[in-house]
Amino acid sequence: MTERINGVFAMTEQLTPQPGIMDIALYVSGESAIAGRSEVLKLSSNENHYGCSDKAREAFQRAGRELHRYPNTDHGALRRAIGEIHALDPDRIICGVGSDEVLQFAAQAYAGPGDEVIVTEHGFSMYPILARAVGATPVTVPEEERRIDVDAILGAVTDKTRIVFLANPANPTGTMLDEAEITRLVEGLPGHVLLVHDGAYAEFVEGFDGGAGLVDAYPNVLMTRTFSKIHGLGGLRIGWGYGRREVIDVLNRLRQPFNLSQAQMEAAEAAVRDTDFTRKCREENARWRDWLRDALVQMGVDCDRSHANFVLARFADEDEAAACDAALRENGILVRRTGGYGLPHCLRITVGDESACRRVIHAIGTFKGVR
Ligand SMILES: Cc1ncc(COP(=O)(O)O)c(C=O)c1O
Repeated sequence: MTERINGVFAMTEQLTPQPGIMDIALYVSGESAIAGRSEVLKLSSNENHYGCSDKAREAFQRAGRELHRYPNTDHGALRRAIGEIHALDPDRIICGVGSDEVLQFAAQAYAGPGDEVIVTEHGFSMYPILARAVGATPVTVPEEERRIDVDAILGAVTDKTRIVFLANPANPTGTMLDEAEITRLVEGLPGHVLLVHDGAYAEFVEGFDGGAGLVDAYPNVLMTRTFSKIHGLGGLRIGWGYGRREVIDVLNRLRQPFNLSQAQMEAAEAAVRDTDFTRKCREENARWRDWLRDALVQMGVDCDRSHANFVLARFADEDEAAACDAALRENGILVRRTGGYGLPHCLRITVGDESACRRVIHAIGTFKGVR
């Protein structure tokens, strides 16, 4: 009910958001600026240090000539390109505004008030947000030394469970479940539970299908992928999902017809087709990621072997991690604090090119008093 006060309509009843919404912690993204510094080395958001493919940038610019046209609604050309490059059926692909949107469709479609959504101790922070946004309850299960624990997930399943969200490789730990473990997980899940296998970092793993094989083998698996990481298009917001035809049909009913602009689709199509660029990025990332990890370990900073485009440096405690973060900022380097992921003693460092990796290691070495 509204009432006119001084010529302005004001609400006289309290607006009440849906249950669960006020429990949502706002997502904290990687910082991109340091006060008082114009030049910053940003290693806080797992972006591609090499940028994106020139072909994607050119396609984006070309699409700029047709800004008065509505985009294509079925994403056909982009789905066909993804299908061709990844050997997948384009009819079972859905595209979204980042993979975040596809994850959101999954939550909206399959979970609601009274339902439970399983997430893991150090899992990607969007999963509990998406669960709460649809009124469901996120149930957090422990990990085993920063690795997803299949038995802990299976032990947490109830008849209220609707979705299990996990990333493989995982963010921010960089660890990975192997094929046997993930298969054991899917086989142990009841049919009413959807496994969302988030492959945001899949392309960094040589020869890994990101979970596509699981989707083909089991009805209750959805794979999500992104153009934000290896393709270097985080600023454009494009992601996709691959699932059973019935699942994709459900998700498409939630999708707004014009969720992607023509420029997004054309840049993404050019990016996925530029397999030379993707390969170069994967190879350079693997080389400098392993170098970064070895250098950290040599200076007494623990670090698991990562399968993604970042490493997780573990310090003695939260104070040491905070002090190292402050020292890096003094040097104009931004990395990610991971307290919000239950890892307050860690810093997540995105793998850059050779000079970025050498610079961050030099700064950490100076902080540790070993360089
Ligand atoms: C594990 C994981 N999943 C999904 C995303 C979302 O990516 P985007 O929405 O940019 O596709 C991210 C981004 O950092 C991520 O780390």
